[in-house]
Amino acid sequence: MKAITLNEFGGPEVLRVTEVPLPEPGPGQIRVRVRAAGVNPIDGKIRSGAMRAALRTPLPAVLGVDVAGIVDALGDGVTGVAVGDRVVGWADAPAGAYAEFALASTYSRLPDGLDFSAAVALPVAVETATRTLDLLKVGAGDTLLIHGASGAVGQIAAQLAADRGATVIGTAGEANQDRVRALGATPTVYGPGLVDRVRALAPHGVDAVLDAAGKGALPDSIELRGGTDRIVTIADAAAQQFGVVFSAGPEQRSAADLAAVADRLARGELIATVAAVFPFAQVAAAHRLSDGGHAGGKIVLVP
Ligand SMILES: NC(=O)c1ccc[n+]([C@@H]2O[C@H](COP(=O)([O-])OP(=O)(O)OC[C@H]3O[C@@H](n4cnc5c(N)ncnc54)[C@H](OP(=O)(O)O)[C@@H]3O)[C@@H](O)[C@H]2O)c1
Repeated sequence: MKAITLNEFGGPEVLRVTEVPLPEPGPGQIRVRVRAAGVNPIDGKIRSGAMRAALRTPLPAVLGVDVAGIVDALGDGVTGVAVGDRVVGWADAPAGAYAEFALASTYSRLPDGLDFSAAVALPVAVETATRTLDLLKVGAGDTLLIHGASGAVGQIAAQLAADRGATVIGTAGEANQDRVRALGATPTVYGPGLVDRVRALAPHGVDAVLDAAGKGALPDSIELRGGTDRIVTIADAAAQQFGVVFSAGPEQRSAADLAAVADRLARGELIATVAAVFPFAQVAAAHRLSDGGHAGGKIVLVP
């Protein structure tokens, strides 16, 4: 089969479409004929070699976690799904999602009316948002500040927080203020003066902060909270220096949570913006857009 392989660390151009062996599903796994694979910013961090110290990546590697497609084969013990079903889920390493076929052990059926590219925006974002909102104990009556509410994770986090009864203030670039408002959150721009802007929007203070951007907003977050309590970042490497919780796991991949959000997306009750769709051959362009950090939603690769 064809897959996008990482043969050496470097810029987006090191990603190549090559021929690799078809992966065989093990016990509990399905094989998916990939129709859409999501690009996550971490894919670019792995590709560049920036993650080498924290995450061992034997080369050649096939990147990608978000996957949507058609069930093609079942491993031993798999029940509740049949060859031909449309599914969305998390691709198991090391096979990866950037390929014509991927393996998955946590997945949900795609609701009717939801296409593969729309659905593939969900798995990593839903897991990350749910995990961090749980960690922050976001609930009814809370005012939550989300840094990066226009991003793939931030969009889902803003809406799941509102479901819990929280009031959400979300930062984004100038061009994405309306995108954040459409999520049911109050938008504000990131950058200098943020503390004053947030205080004006939330005179009684913010109860929790989710940093889903990782662009240096921890000091402002601490000032707004009056300490480090109920602040979580998923992306700022300075977390330890500031005594702030960095959440990278343990992952809580839940097929039920994913199915619930996918159903709402299919019914038009939830927003998960697909910023751009690229064929595998244009993976370098997809990674350039992702590396830029302002895609405005999920970047999708299609075989
Ligand atoms: N630890 C984990 O478990 C985990 C899981 C998933 C993702 N992540 C990390 O979380 C981050 C977000 O992921 P994503 O998929 O949501 O990325 P994304 O879709 O690229 O979103 C990036 C967000 O950051 C904002 N942003 C860009 N530059 C900024 C700046 N200078 N100041 C403040 N905000 C800025 C963007 O706003 P505009 O586009 O409006 O400018 C956007 O809202 C990435 O670093 C990713 O690697 C971590």
